[in-house]
Amino acid sequence: MKVHTIKTTPFTDQKPGTSGLRKKVTHFQQPHYLENFVQSIFNVATDLKDQRLILGGDGRYYNSHAIQVILKIAAANGIKHVMVGENGLLSTPAVSHLIRKYQAAGGIILSASHNPGGPEGDFGIKFNIANGGPAPTTFTDTVYEKSKNIKEYLIADAEDISLNQQDNYYIGGMQITVINSVTDYADLMEQLFDFPKIKSLFTSGLFSICFDAMHAVTGPYAKEIFSKRLCANVGAVINGTPLEDFGGGHPDPNLAHATELVAKLNTSANTAPDFGAASDGDGDRNMIIGQNFFVNPSDSLAIMAANAHLLPGYKQGVCGVARSLPTSRAVDKVAESMGIDCYETPTGWKYFGNLLDDKRITLCGEESFGSGSDHIREKDGIWAVLFWLNLIAIKQQSVEKILHAHWLRFGRHYYTRHDYEALDSTLANELIQNLRAQTTSLTGNNYNDYKVVLCDDFSYVDPVDGSIAKNQGIRILFADDSRIVFRLSGTGTEGATLRVYIERYITDPSQFDLTTQEALAPLIDIANRLSEVQKRFKRETPNVIT
Ligand code: G1P
Ligand code: ZN
Repeated sequence: MKVHTIKTTPFTDQKPGTSGLRKKVTHFQQPHYLENFVQSIFNVATDLKDQRLILGGDGRYYNSHAIQVILKIAAANGIKHVMVGENGLLSTPAVSHLIRKYQAAGGIILSASHNPGGPEGDFGIKFNIANGGPAPTTFTDTVYEKSKNIKEYLIADAEDISLNQQDNYYIGGMQITVINSVTDYADLMEQLFDFPKIKSLFTSGLFSICFDAMHAVTGPYAKEIFSKRLCANVGAVINGTPLEDFGGGHPDPNLAHATELVAKLNTSANTAPDFGAASDGDGDRNMIIGQNFFVNPSDSLAIMAANAHLLPGYKQGVCGVARSLPTSRAVDKVAESMGIDCYETPTGWKYFGNLLDDKRITLCGEESFGSGSDHIREKDGIWAVLFWLNLIAIKQQSVEKILHAHWLRFGRHYYTRHDYEALDSTLANELIQNLRAQTTSLTGNNYNDYKVVLCDDFSYVDPVDGSIAKNQGIRILFADDSRIVFRLSGTGTEGATLRVYIERYITDPSQFDLTTQEALAPLIDIANRLSEVQKRFKRETPNVIT
């Protein structure tokens, strides 16, 4: 094998965010940009040498090109074996599972998650470590440092590999196995859930599903699992063919973007499916909806925690739960009643890894349409859908009924997130700094009858390794358990995105049927006043409300 040593100059902006390095495709297309970052990963993850690596992505534009480049750099850096998904496709949860199942030393996932794709869209690279989870900040910070000083990278002189043929290939001494992207993952799901019971739900003819793969990676997974193994209804999977530009859509499973799915569920016609779900670009997010009914992801996590013991894979019970800071505290109420620990972590799945490895938690989730368990070390979209299907098969109740029963028992957390996108970064940072400066003075103040009992900039001390994450978001807690959180996104590629998270806890059942924005109106007003968002950015309303 001939290896070229290519001289290069560093880029100064290869700092991974909440979830890997994410930039515009055109940014990645700059000469040496991709190569520099990949070599920086290998320079830090020296334990990959002579070991196995898992490689795949969500099929977006630049996926196939990046895979061929990474294979050649991997070969030149002494990797022994790379397992690649057929056609370069692997969902993020599938990569996490494959790393664990085949004892790989790590995995590279090519995805910008829910961000749009295509030549003008976004691209991204994430590195996962041997436990199957996202690399911790200590790792990504070191990669960033290396990327700022890189002088050369190594690349094998080799032909491209046929990614559309499951087979073994070689670049020098490095073996490449192109594997079926779906089988191992589908087998794992079959171990966790009661497939015969879910299948009987479908074959009864009384229940139907519509799953929107949003032309992203979960299409092949959904077809194999829902249609083939579970014999779901005709039309169970829509937008099931992965496309490089996601069909021009925004592969983010929420009410604003999964519009085709929402229209199918929100109709009075008797053709409406009983259950709707969607997943994002790389298959780690999920949205669950019933007929004319939206399940808030924070509620979904709480319902999972309250019912997991009913499912085969979790019959030993839940040892603890975790949620990210901005996620509503619905799951806290469940944990309290079950007498188990509930951890509050910074935003991003990487913070759950240690808690899962240390067996402190079984389930975890984020308000951003993510939930998961100890079966892998990533959030998992299809897993969440199967969890709900299994629960419905057991309870024989609609999604809406399950939610109402839960609220009667634990109370309801009304919850919303307001996103202001593409803001001037300097001004956005000023807004946060201004709030940070007020954290002490706000405590004790009253706003529209809401009294502030705590206000701080959230810091997290990892209970397992003692690492500290500071400045993770401004949280304002009120006497009635209402809460507002402000933070800036760590995944955007254009300017800054301000996220404002607002929640209110209600125990009076006569108030369970308000609309979310109506129930939260006074708190939304307080959030706007404190942040001065309208004045600072001349924006009347958020770009996205979830
Ligand atoms: C967003 C979500 C966060 C999630 C991340 C990756 O990050 O808010 O919960 O872990 O995407 O899917 P943010 O842009 O807010 O930093
Ligand atoms: Zn994702």
